[in-house]
Amino acid sequence: MSKVLFVCLGNICRSPLGEGILRKKAQAAGVDIEIDSAGTGDWHVGQLPDPRSIKVGKANDCDMTMRARQVRASDFKEFDLIIAMDHANVRDLERWPGSDPSRVRLAMSFTENTVTSEVPDPYYGEYSDFESVYDLLDDACEGILAELSETYAR
Ligand code: 4NP
Repeated sequence: MSKVLFVCLGNICRSPLGEGILRKKAQAAGVDIEIDSAGTGDWHVGQLPDPRSIKVGKANDCDMTMRARQVRASDFKEFDLIIAMDHANVRDLERWPGSDPSRVRLAMSFTENTVTSEVPDPYYGEYSDFESVYDLLDDACEGILAELSETYAR
């Protein structure tokens, strides 16, 4: 079994959506993956996702009842893959106490998208920005599931 952690800045917009989407896809495919998400910042610890992330997630049959937490040093031992949304997240994770940069990858690196390497921060945007984030992460999660299915295939 593999363990995957999605990471963004606040853990209320992008990474909870990644968590919800990959959980839905893994369940549908019958693939055993443990999935969590966390933020590099601590402002929203304990909170539900942003209402706009809940809305777009629920509209696509994703469970969105997770609560925000901050990244911790033990995450670099516990999770095989730590999936960052943007380059700032990667930089922060590489400098984190206890970091293992070899486990850190950009979400869009699991796709064939050559237009954007980042899932952009939608926090100060509109609902349509959250729909765009959903589409990018749906694509990324397809790639993540394909790669994990290959790695852990018996
Ligand atoms: P996220 O979005 O990193 O996708 O969860 C943000 C949420 C909150 C803040 C920034 C980004 N904030 O500054 O509080």
